[in-house]
Amino acid sequence: MRTPVTHSEIVVGLDLGTTKVSAVVGEVDADGITILGVGNVPCRGLRKGVVSNIEWTMRSVREAIEAAQTMAGVEIKTVYAGIAGSHIRSQASDGVCAIAGREVTRTDLDRVLEGARAIPVDADRMILHALPREYVVDAQDGIRDPVGMSGVRLQARVNLVTAATSCVQNVIRCVERCGLTVADVVLEPLASADAVLSEDEKEIGVAVIDIGGGTTDLLLYADGGIAHTSIIPAGGNNITSDVAAGLRTPMAEAERLKRNYGCALGRMISDEEEIEVPGVGGHSPRRVARRLLSDIIEPRVEEIFAEARRRIEETGLLEQVSSGCVLTGGAALMEGMVECAEEILGMPVRLGFPVGVKGIVQLVQGPQYATGVGLLRYGAQQLADRAAHQAPAERGRVQSQVEDADLGAHAGGKSGFWNWFRAAF
Ligand SMILES: Nc1ncnc2c1ncn2[C@@H]1O[C@H](COP(=O)(O)OP(=O)(O)OP(=O)(O)O)[C@@H](O)[C@H]1O
Ligand SMILES: [Mg+2]
Repeated sequence: MRTPVTHSEIVVGLDLGTTKVSAVVGEVDADGITILGVGNVPCRGLRKGVVSNIEWTMRSVREAIEAAQTMAGVEIKTVYAGIAGSHIRSQASDGVCAIAGREVTRTDLDRVLEGARAIPVDADRMILHALPREYVVDAQDGIRDPVGMSGVRLQARVNLVTAATSCVQNVIRCVERCGLTVADVVLEPLASADAVLSEDEKEIGVAVIDIGGGTTDLLLYADGGIAHTSIIPAGGNNITSDVAAGLRTPMAEAERLKRNYGCALGRMISDEEEIEVPGVGGHSPRRVARRLLSDIIEPRVEEIFAEARRRIEETGLLEQVSSGCVLTGGAALMEGMVECAEEILGMPVRLGFPVGVKGIVQLVQGPQYATGVGLLRYGAQQLADRAAHQAPAERGRVQSQVEDADLGAHAGGKSGFWNWFRAAF
């Protein structure tokens, strides 16, 4: 349940995707989130969700921010930036603290989550999120919000998400060099899931699969909490490369053919349909069966869903994903994706479009905007948390940047991470 903020603030979600950078600007007030503008520009600075060229990424960030500012008519200073890539890992952890018979407070939640974070992490990795799955007060488990309950011992079962420090630094660096402050670095599938899921789905259990250009992000809700998240290093770009190689056509044409005629299930295409395929290196165009295009696409899509299914099975939570799967990300738009996913995952599948915002919603209607809208919603939730409790319930090394930014971190805030980051770079 979101706590309304009492005044209006501008919040910006910045999705650094493998194919595009999206800056989504919203105004957050007691009535919710109003989309004011979006800047969407192609980006070639990332590989498989990870920044691989700082200059190119910066250029796209700058252009996306400028476009969003112009459309929204506001100045953007701070953003919530997304991060993905196969360096992301998640693991279970527990935190415990004594409450000695009194009522559990928000401060106790902070303490117990801090405890869950206190596990050894490799020197080159950092904790991005500590996502509570459930709380246990004395012998009673399965508690979502223990504040106000009485007991002797409070335990938190959390899902710890860690990232390679260098990848987080590169995201921060790209954004800061554009003269912006990073309020927080947020796991992209967390943002996408928040944007496309209903509360019922979260409650019952659901899998979210965000198929982007470079990565396919998986996130599982089970028992009302986030039970698993991982990144599969393949996405729509792999499909395009397969089409380019299989039909011997330039990448740009392969992308066009994929978007206009691609289908993830060959048997949905009649044998009579034909498409024109431009040749490479001066070869003239030729007509081929559209079925051939889907025969190239289908194995790659199957491979991605089979890997997603393998990962879900590995968690032992397949049975608990009762409401099925929500498919989002740009590549989910291809014909036959839902049907193919249903066959391979063996569960009901629907397409996920961003919800929970108003204003110029047509700007962010496609599944490719799930992450940008989710980042904006995440930022709005941070404001609400701060308004309600002064400090967010879940604070981490990266998240404490939110407070540092507000306190004027450039002069030296209270976050050890932030000072360390600045000193190191
Ligand atoms: N209509 C469509 N049919 C098939 N594929 C599509 C369609 N529209 C977009 N795509 C594919 O979606 C992918 C881009 O999706 P998205 O914008 O979600 O990715 P991204 O966020 O840039 O990348 P990532 O999340 O992997 O870092 C591209 O591979 C593109 O070809
Ligand atoms: Mg993406």
